[in-house]
Amino acid sequence: MRDSTVLVTGGGKGLGRAFTEALGQAGARVFITGRDASALEETAETLNGDGILVEAIRADVVDRDAMKDVVARIMKVSGRLDVLVNNAVDPGPVGPTADIDFGAWWRTQEVNVAGPLIGAQAALAVMLPAGRGRIINLVSPAGIKRWPYATAYSVSKAALLKLSENLATELRSTGVTVFSYNPGIVDAGLTRAGMRFAGNTDDPWLDRIGRWAIDARDSGAFVPLETAVACLVRLARGDADVLTGHVIHAEDDLDARISDREV
Ligand SMILES: NC(=O)c1ccc[n+]([C@@H]2O[C@H](COP(=O)([O-])OP(=O)(O)OC[C@H]3O[C@@H](n4cnc5c(N)ncnc54)[C@H](OP(=O)(O)O)[C@@H]3O)[C@@H](O)[C@H]2O)c1
Repeated sequence: MRDSTVLVTGGGKGLGRAFTEALGQAGARVFITGRDASALEETAETLNGDGILVEAIRADVVDRDAMKDVVARIMKVSGRLDVLVNNAVDPGPVGPTADIDFGAWWRTQEVNVAGPLIGAQAALAVMLPAGRGRIINLVSPAGIKRWPYATAYSVSKAALLKLSENLATELRSTGVTVFSYNPGIVDAGLTRAGMRFAGNTDDPWLDRIGRWAIDARDSGAFVPLETAVACLVRLARGDADVLTGHVIHAEDDLDARISDREV
C-alpha cells in the first residue's frame, strides 16, 4: 500500500489500532482519530517507533467541522486520501429496550450512523474529484442478526449496513467503492472489555453480555485478530473493489466471492 493514505477513525484503541498497525506495515501512511488524546498519542508514538507513518488527530466523529479539518490536514500533509475506515464506535447502553435511557440510545445512533456519514461526506469531498477512493464501514454480527438487550448497537450497525449499500450504488460510476466490513467477534476492543464484566458488575445486563462473549469464545466462535486484520487490509488495498456495496466477513473467501459474483 505504498503511496496510499488511510484515515482510521477510532484508530488509537482496540481493533482500530490493530488495523492501523497492519495498514502501516503494508506501507500506508495512516491518520488516526479519536477523543482520547493520550491514547492517540501513545499509539502514534509506539507505531512511529516501529517505523510506521502514523499521525494522530483528536476529533469526535459527530463533529462535522472537526472531520472536515481532519481531511484538510491529511490533504496538506499527504496530498491524497485513498481509504476511509469508519471504525469508531459507541457500544451503547444495554438492557430491556422498553426502558433503555433514550439519550444514551440516541447518542449511539449519532456516533455509529451519523459519524460514518459525516466521515464519508468529508472524505468524498476529496475522493470524488480524485476519481478514486474506498470507504470501509465497520459493521457487526449485531447488525445482521438479532441482538436483544443491546438494541442501540444492533440497530445502529444495521443502519450502517444500509448506508453502505445505498452509498455504494450511488457512487458506482465514480471510482469510489464502499464496503460493510464485519470482522466477526474478536478478542479485542469492546468484546474484550465486555468479557471483563462477567462476574464483576452489579448490572445484570452487562454481566449477561460478558458471559455470552465468554461462551462464544470458549465454543470457538471468535475470529482470530490476525484474520480480521488481514481481510481489512485486502479491502483497503482494493482486492475486492468489484464487490462494492457488499457485506464482507473477515473469514470470507474473497477470491471465491469475486469469481462467483453476479454481474
Ligand atoms: N471487537 C469486536 O469483537 C467487534 C466485533 C464486530 C464489530 N466490531 C466493530 O469494530 C469497530 C471497532 O471496535 P472495537 O471493538 O475496537 O471498539 P473499542 O475498543 O471500543 O474502540 C472504539 C474506538 O472508537 C473511538 N470512539 C468512540 N467514540 C468516538 C467518537 N465519538 N469520536 C471519535 N472516536 C470515537 C474510541 O476512541 P476514543 O475513546 O479516543 O474516542 C476507540 O478508539 C467498531 O465499529 C465495532 O462495531 C468489533
